[in-house]
Amino acid sequence: MTRIHRPQRALALAFAASLLVAALPARAAEEVTLYTTREPALVAPLLSAFSAQSGIKVNTVFVKDGLLERVRAEGERSPADLLMTVDVGHLIDLVEGGVTQSVQSAALQSAIPANLRGAQGEWFALSLRARVVYAAKDLKLTSLRYEDLASPQWKGKVCTRAGQHPYNTALVSAMIAHDGPAKTEQWLQGLKANLARKATGGDRDVARDILGGICDVGLANSYYVGHMKASKEGTDARKWGDGIRVVKPTFADKGSGTHVNISGASVARHAPHRANAVKLLEFLVSEPAQALYAQANYEYPVRKGVALDPVIAQSIGPLQVDPLPLTEIARYRQQASTLIDKVGLDK
Ligand SMILES: [Fe+2]
Repeated sequence: MTRIHRPQRALALAFAASLLVAALPARAAEEVTLYTTREPALVAPLLSAFSAQSGIKVNTVFVKDGLLERVRAEGERSPADLLMTVDVGHLIDLVEGGVTQSVQSAALQSAIPANLRGAQGEWFALSLRARVVYAAKDLKLTSLRYEDLASPQWKGKVCTRAGQHPYNTALVSAMIAHDGPAKTEQWLQGLKANLARKATGGDRDVARDILGGICDVGLANSYYVGHMKASKEGTDARKWGDGIRVVKPTFADKGSGTHVNISGASVARHAPHRANAVKLLEFLVSEPAQALYAQANYEYPVRKGVALDPVIAQSIGPLQVDPLPLTEIARYRQQASTLIDKVGLDK
């Protein structure tokens, strides 16, 4: 009996094996290469969720500096499929540097508001960080316009990091877009006159210096509030976070909102796995991924209806994002930087 059946069995096995061999390389080839300037720990949970769901392996290349130069130097042989970074200015540099390509995707267009992506699908915001005002708790300040920070009321009471930091040049660009360059220059002069100390350090230092009584109000990003307030009880960071109240400023003109920085991504011009890059982008704006973003770095989801991190929900709450297109705001980057120098904000 075995004599008769053995050849058949061997044949069947060989056939099954050939199917496996045929199937394996195709599956193993499903991959996507991500170049990111974001800290790997921040994106790792998102990427493993993507791989688990899609079966697509993600090769992550952490590029601390010189993302554009690197991709440009690699040229057509670049393995990069998706380029991820922070700040719309950096994304537009990639677009203008010729290392991206446009993507048309209904999923991306419906998930990301039009003002937070390139008009031709050149770049997409994936998460938001609000440029807010930290205020001393006892002031009981509940609302403020960015323009108010130049008012004599705050003389010697304002703290901020350097004007030339991308977070602040982006805010000044937005002000140029809203109020024009002349009013923005006046505002910068007023802000300079109101500084409690040199415009230097980081955003957390604003909270530290409010608690230390050096300033009453200051400009800083929203996610640091999450980091500080979630720190261990008794630590300095926790004390700084607990010593402030957060105000969400808008600009003076009606219908404006709070200025946001973004994290975002573009599909690389020579992406070897273009379809997988689009799949990864679409995953990153899906509901579960957007909720992960909120938890990983206390950022605001770009997609509507996604729950905020509880610490952010409690201390800052929902955001009314400035409706001006980030592309328009980014046009004034150079002018903003020149004005900041002209008034000597960082001197
Ligand atoms: Fe930051």
